[in-house]
Amino acid sequence: MTPHIGAEPGQIAETVLMPGDPYRARWAAETFLDGAELVNEVRGMLGFTGTYKGNRVTIQGSGMGMPSLSIYANELISIYKAQTLIRIGSCGGMQPHVAIRDVIIAMSATTITSPSSGIFREVNFAPTAHYDLLAAAVTAAKTKETATHVGGIYSSDVFYAERPDLDEQMVRHGILGVEMEAAELYTLAARHGRRALAILTVSDHLQTGEALPAEDREKTFGDMVEIALEAAFA
Ligand code: HPA
Repeated sequence: MTPHIGAEPGQIAETVLMPGDPYRARWAAETFLDGAELVNEVRGMLGFTGTYKGNRVTIQGSGMGMPSLSIYANELISIYKAQTLIRIGSCGGMQPHVAIRDVIIAMSATTITSPSSGIFREVNFAPTAHYDLLAAAVTAAKTKETATHVGGIYSSDVFYAERPDLDEQMVRHGILGVEMEAAELYTLAARHGRRALAILTVSDHLQTGEALPAEDREKTFGDMVEIALEAAFA
């Protein structure tokens, strides 16, 4: 047990999927895993362990934002020895060719700051996905109808941004979407020699102002979860 995860040692699998929303963790576990069991409910941040095609996997909520994800990812890595951590989340689209419902596989995650940035002092570290996972996710995505984009994303500290000029620079530099967690996950995985990837569903669009209707979310989210599971065990 850790301060934030109540699972016993051995109850967390080496492969962990991390949605921001704990209820999505429950939905994904009930929908895609066999024999899913609740292994954490501390602070309502639900975690489940089951199997996918015979492989053990945990789906653990991370909460929103890098400080929250950092707590769960640190404990999963250091105490439970998680080896593969895949964020499955939503993001805001930032390019005209990226549409609502599309999936983004994040090669890199740009930030202004993250819980880890103090370590780097004057260096701008480049948080990067694990290549084998990234390549496996791209292969898995080809079996889906959902359009997939691979490239850089922006991990922001704020959902309600007050600096449109920053978004403009991200768009100008080809950033595909904005979310709030991946950069810290990639940095922690790099530090500890683990594999990490973020796969995101575009739930809203910064340029068009469109947002995914709630009833449409499940199907698109499902493709993302399957891409993550196939990539993890490829
Ligand atoms: N901004 C930041 N995080 C997000 C967004 C957004 O527009 N959509 C989903 N996660």
